[in-house]
Amino acid sequence: MKQSFVSDPKSHGLTLLEAALWTEKYRPKALDEIVDQEEIVSRLKEFVKRGAMPHCLFAGPPGTGKTTAALCLAHDLFGERFQDVFLELNASDERGIDVVRTTVKEFARMASLSQVPFKILVLDEADNMTNDAQAALRRTMEKYTETCRFVLCCNYSGRIIEPIQSRCALFRFTPLPESKIVEHLHHIAKQEGLKVTESGLKSVVEVAEGDLRKGINTLQAAASMSKGITEEAVYQVVGRAKPTDVHEMLTHAMKGDFIKAREELRQLRSSGFLFQRSRGSALSKQSGRSTIDSFKVETKRSS
Ligand SMILES: Nc1ncnc2c1ncn2[C@@H]1O[C@H](COP(=O)(O)OP(=O)(O)OP(=O)(O)O)[C@@H](O)[C@H]1O
Ligand SMILES: [Mg+2]
Repeated sequence: MKQSFVSDPKSHGLTLLEAALWTEKYRPKALDEIVDQEEIVSRLKEFVKRGAMPHCLFAGPPGTGKTTAALCLAHDLFGERFQDVFLELNASDERGIDVVRTTVKEFARMASLSQVPFKILVLDEADNMTNDAQAALRRTMEKYTETCRFVLCCNYSGRIIEPIQSRCALFRFTPLPESKIVEHLHHIAKQEGLKVTESGLKSVVEVAEGDLRKGINTLQAAASMSKGITEEAVYQVVGRAKPTDVHEMLTHAMKGDFIKAREELRQLRSSGFLFQRSRGSALSKQSGRSTIDSFKVETKRSS
């Protein structure tokens, strides 16, 4: 896997704080560097080859590469200086009709000066825009199609009004598979000189639940405590009990060894990881469905 490394933050338009975040430091710059999402990447590469693209709607769960793909597409289309013809707005920060009327319009109507005859405007969290703002956006998209292509990013495409959906090519991003997350985290760990145990990395992947941003942030948080990434370190930084400890406690309870189970439960509670929120839901939430599921399978087998 090719992966760029940000050695000079300023030359990449990053503040020092952003560069200190591994999610930014290891954010792909080109389509070739994107982890997984293969079908999407190959469709976007076609746009680059043709030097043309339609308006796009990138939909899918957080941390799966939507904004990153928009940045990489712009980079591959326009080269290193793509920032001149690229604008990224967070629709939920600047929600409302006024932004569409002013900022978006201003950017969209000015012709691009580069070889590619259009600019790219990315609207993050577009599903948080009001319907009125979306209706205004739809008119702007139509009016300035010659000079500007829109990439709308959202978690739920159903929240985007139908007339906009029908004007966009839809790209559905999916949660990243565990193997790809592991591979990417290994790469980062190597670059950062970390010592990762297999179970440590597995716990990061479990916490990430297909969200690579969450995986990288968890790895960085654990690394800030120690260069050795162990299962304990990971569950400590995310404030959860280890699934194996919860599993053991449940097993003792189901086998009728209530004294032992109560002892283990007390330990989990005194470590502060359990029952921090509502009592009833905390156990299944924090220990992860996998613990409960594997527990069910085991009790089924033994009965
Ligand atoms: N497919 C991917 N390939 C490589 N890195 C990724 C990928 N997805 C996420 N990342 C990492 O996670 C960070 C956040 O990704 P990104 O901003 O693209 O998520 P998103 O899908 O736009 O999420 P949101 O819905 O929250 O806006 C990136 O900076 C990058 O480090
Ligand atoms: Mg995004």
